[in-house]
Amino acid sequence: MILKQNEITLKRPDDWHLHVRDNILLQLVLHYTSSTYGRAMIMPNLASPIVDIQSAINYRKKILSLVPNCHNFIPLMTCYLTESLDPNEIEKGFVSSIFHAVKLYPMNSTIHSSYGVKNIRSINKILERIQQIGIPLLIHCEVTDVNVDIFDREARFIDQVIEPIRKQFPKIKMVLEHISTKEAVEYIESSDKRTCATITPHHLMLNRNDLLINGINPHFYCFPILKSRVHQEALRRVISTGNSSFFLGTDSAPHFCNKKENIHGLAGIFNAPVALSVYASIFEELNALKYFEAFCSENGARFYNLPVNKDKITLIRKQTIVEDAIGKFPNHIVPFLAGKTLDWSIKI
Ligand code: DOR
Ligand code: ZN
Ligand code: ZN
Repeated sequence: MILKQNEITLKRPDDWHLHVRDNILLQLVLHYTSSTYGRAMIMPNLASPIVDIQSAINYRKKILSLVPNCHNFIPLMTCYLTESLDPNEIEKGFVSSIFHAVKLYPMNSTIHSSYGVKNIRSINKILERIQQIGIPLLIHCEVTDVNVDIFDREARFIDQVIEPIRKQFPKIKMVLEHISTKEAVEYIESSDKRTCATITPHHLMLNRNDLLINGINPHFYCFPILKSRVHQEALRRVISTGNSSFFLGTDSAPHFCNKKENIHGLAGIFNAPVALSVYASIFEELNALKYFEAFCSENGARFYNLPVNKDKITLIRKQTIVEDAIGKFPNHIVPFLAGKTLDWSIKI
């Protein structure tokens, strides 16, 4: 990495947690990621979820057909874990490099998670195979019990689900996705290298005051929900220590504007156009730019046993204003930080 006053050159980063959707949304959003990142771990929670090898192949093909020729981008596919998933399908997909990870959604924890896992004990055979073959298990860490306060759902999930899985399957490689609490940070810090976490730009930048004060902001609404400042500070602290168990995963999750600005507004923040710039500003604020490249471009690749990207990209200190909307009304998306000014831009 080359760090200058107004320029950062780093190995090309990867996004280890990304939703690109399908159809119009896919066409609108893909190039924001493919222009900047070398690879992205593609989430399988489509309306019709990616639950087998054939649907992953088809989805990958569709994504690749939309990547502009000048971009050097590889989508990495994940398999949606359902209670009826055949362990042989996971193994076959992993061995043939179609699946790079299995994604566990607790049933009804988030968007399109109704096919997810209701009873964690019912997937023992699947977890056994996951451990045996070494495919990483990516986890949306929230309990769904309606009696548990929404702000406590992640911490409870660690006690109630992660700990028991860990005890029973000590060798599973797992990623706690988009962590949002002090408890998750401390859990990873006290674990070995088989347990890692992704951190989003929005959970680093914001806390629940930003969501709820001065008029509720649906474009800051996501799962796991933004927590209090104490938790935000814990996430910021840990990236500034350079701990290699934490890496970049934007959880960029686009929805059309009318689905966000809605009485039943959906969770998900479309941050792909701005994520890298936001991460850079945060590492700079924390005086931790020396760890920026490892977080963006190295720690994740190492966890997944993949080579780091060979080429580089450069960020320059140049103010740009984030677009107000992407796409044409009514099929438009409001990007994260729309209308706001970013301090770092990607040099083209
Ligand atoms: O806010 C979120 N949106 N969190 C998730 O876990 C899923 C995502 C989506 O798919 O929209
Ligand atoms: Zn999630
Ligand atoms: Zn996600």
